[in-house]
Amino acid sequence: MRVLISLYLFQKNMCWIYGYMGDATNTHQILLRWLNRLEYRGYDSAGILVGYGSEQKIVKSVGKVSALTNKVSSLIAESDVYTYGIAHTRWATHGGVTEENTHPHTSTESDIAVVHNGIIENYAKLKKWLIEKWYTFYSETDSEVIAKLLEDNRDGELLSTVEKTLPMLSGAYALLITHKESPRSMVWVRLGSPLLFGRNKDGIYFSSDAQALAWVVDEILHLEDGELAHIHEWNYSIRAQGKNIFRNLEVFDEKDLLVSKWDYDHFMIKEVDEQPAVFKRILKWRVNIEDMTLHADAFHGMQNENYKKIVFVACGTSYYAAFLGSYRIKQIAWIHCDVEIASEMQYLPLDVNDETLYIFVSQSWETADTLEVLKSVRDKWGNTFWIVNVVGSSISRMTDFGLFTRAGAEIGVASTKAFVAQTACIFLLSLFLWSRRNLTKWRHDQLLQWFLEIPDLMEEIFEQKKHIQSIGEELSKYTDIFYLGRWYQVPIAFEWSLKMKEISYIHSEAYPAGELKHGPLALIDENVPIIFLHPKDMVFHHNTSSLQEVKARKWLICEVWGDGEDADWHIPLPDTLDELSPFLTVVVTQLLAYYCAKRLGRDIDKPRNLAKSVTVK
Ligand code: M6R
Repeated sequence: MRVLISLYLFQKNMCWIYGYMGDATNTHQILLRWLNRLEYRGYDSAGILVGYGSEQKIVKSVGKVSALTNKVSSLIAESDVYTYGIAHTRWATHGGVTEENTHPHTSTESDIAVVHNGIIENYAKLKKWLIEKWYTFYSETDSEVIAKLLEDNRDGELLSTVEKTLPMLSGAYALLITHKESPRSMVWVRLGSPLLFGRNKDGIYFSSDAQALAWVVDEILHLEDGELAHIHEWNYSIRAQGKNIFRNLEVFDEKDLLVSKWDYDHFMIKEVDEQPAVFKRILKWRVNIEDMTLHADAFHGMQNENYKKIVFVACGTSYYAAFLGSYRIKQIAWIHCDVEIASEMQYLPLDVNDETLYIFVSQSWETADTLEVLKSVRDKWGNTFWIVNVVGSSISRMTDFGLFTRAGAEIGVASTKAFVAQTACIFLLSLFLWSRRNLTKWRHDQLLQWFLEIPDLMEEIFEQKKHIQSIGEELSKYTDIFYLGRWYQVPIAFEWSLKMKEISYIHSEAYPAGELKHGPLALIDENVPIIFLHPKDMVFHHNTSSLQEVKARKWLICEVWGDGEDADWHIPLPDTLDELSPFLTVVVTQLLAYYCAKRLGRDIDKPRNLAKSVTVK
């Protein structure tokens, strides 16, 4: 079934919306708790509005949630009663990081308030027009224009006021709007920027993040683009173009997305440790262990024997997962496969035909660059497939078929278990495509049999944590590091290099080992350690020659796998098949990067300048 996208605009900022209305009397604490949990996503200011009847309080602050929390505790007593509220974290786009620019934005009398994600493209024109009328603006944002327009259109009813206002706005937005005079109501609008609504026995919750709702609600409601909903008490009505639409809430069963660091120092290391469990979960969902077959329905949409070409599209770590996937699709499934960086793909001609399948890989649900390409392929009616971690995401709702990687919530900005889940799913996909083509069963079973062993082999690697930690800490003394690998290890070298840059801020380069002599050798001396991924695979001896080139110059070598004879540091690994070796080397690389960054005292889960979901182009 082809999903029609009638109108789709992309969210262009990295802001988050939350809201609550219900029986609880501590809405200020509910909202702050939420903001705290989602802090890892990255933002630069936050604000809340809480209310009880027509009494409302707005508190805003720049910086971290702790700054807002301190401000709230100085202005609101813990015992104060508030039964509804809206909250927002802002990533500055229109105007600097100031309290004035922080949401919620209000009408002149502060009786109408709005939190906004997205962009109002015609805001400058509207602002000029409103100023000429008499309105005063206190912020530089496009969002304040919405509040003043609502005020200008007010007609006593919040719903009709909003309906009158929306046609005047152009752009992409999600809005949550309150009105002092209707304290038991809120209006929620979605056009090109996600916002969901969920319900449990205590109340109604809003969030632009499905994962955030997973902690609290049993039922969830999606709005389609162009729809708005009027929530009153426990009831809701959905409207689009002035007409009522009927839609039921769906059961939300993502309770396992619980987010807690337990006893770990960082989410990253917790998520690295979860990888064997993630692997087992993927096996449970995709593989029938009794007869060593793959669940065909888990690869729904892949039965088409005519696909002659697969094109992966992704960014960052997901790109490296796709890069590794492309090796496997080519070598295991024997299908022509390209892998494209989404932000570059936007400028290239699209080869769309019945025999080509575009696979979009993303941990999150809002990577703007990836979504942009998806939109272009969909506009040309190309075949699309998604591989996504976050259930209920935009990508998953906008493509023909796909599969959830089911890694669970990944909180650390550095992607670890999501990468392993993506690569495991793509591996199974290549196996599925292969088995569909009736190639030899023994090889299929051999690969699957060894694949089942991976969680145990990962656990074996964890037994060497202390040793890996000592090498990671040594690496922290250097300012440049080189990563080399060959064949299946090339994508891992790139991924590792990205991870090091991201969390340790150490400059690093990754190269296919064979490329060393074509230029990079000039950069290396005794101050640049070389991390050499050296599995005992088909290309082992080629790698050994490269390793000796380095050794002859007396440079520092950390050999991952191999026999350690020529290495300054050696990390031995258990045996597996060539095709599966990246599942082991990647764990070592993650641990090395983690311990190196930890020694340097970096903010590992929230590295500087980065955010978990990159919703800007
Ligand atoms: O959510 P996505 O998988 O689409 O994100 C893509 C990249 O932004 C992401 O993988 C990024 O590179 C990670 N922070 C790397 O650890």
